[in-house]
Amino acid sequence: MRMSALPDQCISATVRVMEPKLHVTEATEDDLPFLLQIWNDPTVMRYAGSPEGRGWSESDIESWWRLYQREHSALGYDDTQLVLRLGDGTRVGESHFGPVPDGFCVGDWRKPDRTRCLMGDIKLLPSYWGRGLGTEGMRLVVQFVFTKTDCELFVVPPHERNPAAYRVYEKAGFSRTGVQAWPGHEIMELGRVRFDEVYDQGPRL
Ligand SMILES: CC(C)(COP(=O)(O)OP(=O)(O)OC[C@H]1O[C@@H](n2cnc3c(N)ncnc32)[C@H](O)[C@@H]1OP(=O)(O)O)[C@@H](O)C(=O)NCCC(=O)NCCS
Repeated sequence: MRMSALPDQCISATVRVMEPKLHVTEATEDDLPFLLQIWNDPTVMRYAGSPEGRGWSESDIESWWRLYQREHSALGYDDTQLVLRLGDGTRVGESHFGPVPDGFCVGDWRKPDRTRCLMGDIKLLPSYWGRGLGTEGMRLVVQFVFTKTDCELFVVPPHERNPAAYRVYEKAGFSRTGVQAWPGHEIMELGRVRFDEVYDQGPRL
């Protein structure tokens, strides 16, 4: 399938995290109403697997939370739900990443053998789009992943009709692969070697 004609832009040689407007926190039970709101929003979920929103009830998110807590306890930071917040604590978005098992393949993409690989994404409430917060938030997520886990390859699956996601991931250091996973979703990847090359190693988390 032909992918959208996005400009072939490169990030600058070094990703510099400017004075942060955002910070990330690990999700707690207090975040469940926010997560329910963002995952049920069709505008947010349009290119993120649920075009009509997840349609979850409070009991659905409570079940998810119990499952997540079990997986997070078993896998540690390899399976983490983050919440993105402004300086005053206001929740503006979320990011989840989890491990991709050996042998996993979907569409034309196959997880590289013997490589510790995590897959994630980022979502912001629409009222916060277009202010650079997605870029800043994804850079914080990338730093979290590569400092808190042994991840060697971090991958994200933007949809071909979602240029803002492509751009945010490019600006966070990910490269296009041209490989389609789920229909319309291309895998972008960022390896630890490139992370070490392009990120300032500051205590930003
Ligand atoms: C993707 C998302 C996180 C972007 O957040 P954001 O805060 O708006 O992103 P930023 O403001 O940091 O940057 C957006 C970039 O995309 C560009 N962009 C936005 N719309 C675009 C379009 N239609 N065509 C081309 N570029 C576009 C912006 O110009 C900007 O790039 P620039 O800084 O080089 O000018 C947000 O739109 C979102 O939460 N979407 C819903 C969830 C989702 O789809 N997540 C991705 C799942 S893989």
